[in-house]
Amino acid sequence: MTDGLTLRTAFEGDLEQIGALLADRGDEADAEDLRLVVDDADEGLDAVMVVVDGDRVVSTATLLRESVTVAGVVVPAGQVEMVATDPSHEGRGLVRALMDEAHRRSADRGDLLQVMIGIPFFYRQFGYSYAMPIPLPWHVHATPAADADITVRAARLDDIAAMTALQAAAQSTADVRMPHSAGCWRWLVQRSGSTQLVAEHDGVVIATARQTPPDDGVVLGEVAGRADGIRSLVAAAGREGEVAVLERPVAGLDATLAEIAVAPDSPDRAREWFYARVHSLAPLLDHLRPALLERFRSAGLGGRHEVLLSSWRSHVRFSIDEDSMSDVVAGGPEQAPISKGGSGVPPDALAPLVLGPFGAAGLETRHGDVLLGRQRELMEALFPPLTSDLLTFYLAL
Ligand SMILES: CC(C)(COP(=O)(O)OP(=O)(O)OC[C@H]1O[C@@H](n2cnc3c(N)ncnc32)[C@H](O)[C@@H]1OP(=O)(O)O)[C@@H](O)C(=O)NCCC(=O)NCCS
Repeated sequence: MTDGLTLRTAFEGDLEQIGALLADRGDEADAEDLRLVVDDADEGLDAVMVVVDGDRVVSTATLLRESVTVAGVVVPAGQVEMVATDPSHEGRGLVRALMDEAHRRSADRGDLLQVMIGIPFFYRQFGYSYAMPIPLPWHVHATPAADADITVRAARLDDIAAMTALQAAAQSTADVRMPHSAGCWRWLVQRSGSTQLVAEHDGVVIATARQTPPDDGVVLGEVAGRADGIRSLVAAAGREGEVAVLERPVAGLDATLAEIAVAPDSPDRAREWFYARVHSLAPLLDHLRPALLERFRSAGLGGRHEVLLSSWRSHVRFSIDEDSMSDVVAGGPEQAPISKGGSGVPPDALAPLVLGPFGAAGLETRHGDVLLGRQRELMEALFPPLTSDLLTFYLAL
C-alpha cells in the first residue's frame, strides 16, 4: 500500500493490538471473539488480516468460512467480520483494501458467494446487496410458567451435536440456509458476548436458543426445538427482564409465540437485511445447475431454451431443457438483451435474484433496470421467491 502502510495476514504478536482496536471501535467482547477464532483449528491466524503502519495495527478484517445451501445445493461462501480502522487512519481506503483482499482470498479458495451483517450502506460500496431478510422480534408480554420437568442451562461443548441437529431441523424448510460452521459452534459456547442455552428434558436436549446480555432487554435468537422447550427458554430469559424472541421458520413457533408475545409490527417497513455478494454469476449458476434443472422441470415449460441474462456490464448464456443444462458461458457488456429475447438484471440485483424473497418477477417490479422481457416466464421458473434462514457469528439484531 502507499504511505508506508502494509496489508498482510496477522501475526501472533499483532493480536493484542487487534483485540484492543476491535474493543475500542466495537464491543468489549470482540477481543475475546478474535482470540476464539484465532485459536480454532478450522480458522486460525490466517483468517485475520491487518493493515500496519510500522508496527502499529491500524485496520483489520477477518474472513470466515461458511456454506450456504440454496435449494439443496451447498455453496461455499465467505463471511467478513470484525472490521475496524483506528480513527487516526479512517477515510484512507484501508477497509476498501482489506475487503478487496478478503474477496480475492475468498474467490481463490473457491467461494462462490460472500454473506455478511454490517453497518448500513457501507458494504454496498464493495459489491454487497441487501439480499435476505433479517428476522424481526416478537415482544413477550406474558412470560410463560417454567416447566418443572425441563431444565434450562448454558450449553457445553458436548451439547454441540444436539444443537446442530435441532438447528438442521429448524432450517429444513428454508430454501436458503446457512448453518453455524463447526468452529462457530465452539466459539458460541465459549464466548461471553452472548449465551448459548439449551433446554433439557430427561437428560435430552429438546430446544436451544442464543441469549444476548440483558443490557437493553434480553433477545432470544436462533430458537429451535420443541415448543415446551422453547417456552422454558423464554421463561428462563424472562427472569432477567423484558424478552424479545426473533422470528424463525420453526414449525409451530408462531403459534407458541402468539400465546405469549406480540407479533412484529409492520414487518416490511422495519425490515433489515443480510448483505450478500455475487462477484461472478457464471460459476455460481454452473454450481446451482441441479437446483435450476429441478425448477425448470417442475415448471413444465418443455422444449429447449437459450437463456441470455445480462447484468448490463457483462452477461451469461446457457441452454436448458428437461434433461440437461449446458455450461454457463460468460461474456462482456450486453446492452440489448431484451431485443435478443433475454433478460437484464443489474449486478446489485444478482444476490437478491439468487437468494432473496422477491424472485425475478418481484425484482422487476422493484428495480428500473431489472427487465425480464420475453423470457419472463422462464426467469420466474428459474428464480422464484425464496425463504431463508441464516445463522451468523453475531446475532443479527
Ligand atoms: C466503518 C469503518 C470500518 C470504515 O473504515 P475506513 O478504513 O475508514 O474505510 P475506508 O476508508 O476504506 O472507506 C471505504 C469507502 O467507504 C466510505 N466510508 C467510510 N466510512 C463510511 C461509513 N461509516 N459509511 C459509509 N461509507 C463510509 C469512504 O469514503 C470510502 O469511499 P471511497 O472508497 O469511495 O473513497 C471505520 O470507520 C470503523 O472502524 N468504524 C467503527 C467500527 C465499525 O463500524 N465497524 C464496522 C462494523 S460492521
